[in-house]
Amino acid sequence: MITSIRLVNFKNFADETLRIGPFTVIVGANASGKSNIRDAFRFLHGIGRNYTLAEIIGGKSRSDWEPIRGAANEIIRFGQEMFSIEVEMKLDYERERSEKAHYMIEIGPDERKPGEFQIKKEKLKIESETIYIAQSDGEKLRVHGAWDKEQKEILLESNRAVPMQLIDHFQVEAVSQKVFRKLIPKMADIYFILSDMRFLELSPDRMREASFPGANVLGDFGENLPTVLEEICIDPERQEILTSWVHELTPMDVQGFDFPRDPSGRIHLRLCEANGRQVSAYSASDGTLRFLAMLAVLLGRNPRGLYFFEEIDTGIHPARQWLLLELIEKQAAKEDIQIITTTHAPDLLTFVNDSTFENMSVVCRLEDSHDAIIRRVAELPNARELRKSQGLGRLLTEGWMETALAFTEDYDEAEGDGE
Ligand SMILES: Nc1ncnc2c1ncn2[C@@H]1O[C@H](COP(=O)(O)OP(=O)(O)OP(=O)(O)O)[C@@H](O)[C@H]1O
Ligand SMILES: [Mg+2]
Repeated sequence: MITSIRLVNFKNFADETLRIGPFTVIVGANASGKSNIRDAFRFLHGIGRNYTLAEIIGGKSRSDWEPIRGAANEIIRFGQEMFSIEVEMKLDYERERSEKAHYMIEIGPDERKPGEFQIKKEKLKIESETIYIAQSDGEKLRVHGAWDKEQKEILLESNRAVPMQLIDHFQVEAVSQKVFRKLIPKMADIYFILSDMRFLELSPDRMREASFPGANVLGDFGENLPTVLEEICIDPERQEILTSWVHELTPMDVQGFDFPRDPSGRIHLRLCEANGRQVSAYSASDGTLRFLAMLAVLLGRNPRGLYFFEEIDTGIHPARQWLLLELIEKQAAKEDIQIITTTHAPDLLTFVNDSTFENMSVVCRLEDSHDAIIRRVAELPNARELRKSQGLGRLLTEGWMETALAFTEDYDEAEGDGE
């Protein structure tokens, strides 16, 4: 799992770190930079998919990938030359012992090709061991690594992250590198973590569509909802949990689900109510479908990886938000998943549990500055006491977080302004 992300000269962040837990909540005013954090995760996700920088940033020749918002022109903080992203990870997948990994990638313009980027520096450290350090010579990446005591360097392309290139390099070279073979699973772990990310932008219309048999991964817009729910319902125990949550979350008296096939074999979704009435996905409400999609994520078999939900409260009645919150907190604590969400909803904040509170951050642009800062809400002065006495929702509505930040920030204008 990812435990923190540091952004240097990425979009409107000069040098900020966000702590990440099983469930992380990001709050902040409009245009403060919350979605820019999401863009940083999407960048890392592109690395995990082994895409080139041109593909990740500009969406070049990829039909399955949207460019990063603002693409090449706006990914680097205005007025700066390069940006870097660093992540701390806990590698504990299929291992008895967990190890701490530190991955850093720095990107700048490719001087040879206007409008394109190259990796300037890249580093992977696991515990205290540096696995590799890569540095650009303007054309290629010069890589030194833990596999070679003599520090003989390897030359790799500078438009794609190192680990996969290294694995290919050693396969082609067919060098009997015992040390390197030991490193491969560790590098693969980094890729698993980075590639196992999902960015959900639920669209009720897409969720209403019938799905094809076997398409049992929920799409980013909520596609394939019928097949994913049907798979959950194969297990009576999980069907029971699913039904009881739908019961709690919506005013419908849902007793179960039905998945009829149409003549072309596509699977449809119907909700069965107590009075024998059936409601098809086509006429189910938007909020019901959103709940169902979130339940599909949280109750699916072996849920894994990191999910980024923008504005999780969208379309959900305040009186139900705390229930959704309870479900997420419960599942995130239990399963191998991490959920990051942005929100503007005071009611959601009021009901977060203590552990979520510790992983709640505020993003804020201080007056007279273009840059944004990220701070843990729990670290703001008197935050714990005020949370108890007034509730976080009220503090959000009153703009207390921004005010508290502005008071406490030892703010160096010259540096923070970026001008
Ligand atoms: N390259 C850049 N350098 C400096 N600032 C940038 C850069 N790119 C974007 N920004 C700033 O980031 C802002 C957008 O931030 P973002 O989309 O993350 O806001 P948000 O917190 O998600 O807001 P909302 O709640 O409205 O969705 C822009 O308005 C701009 O001020
Ligand atoms: Mg946003």
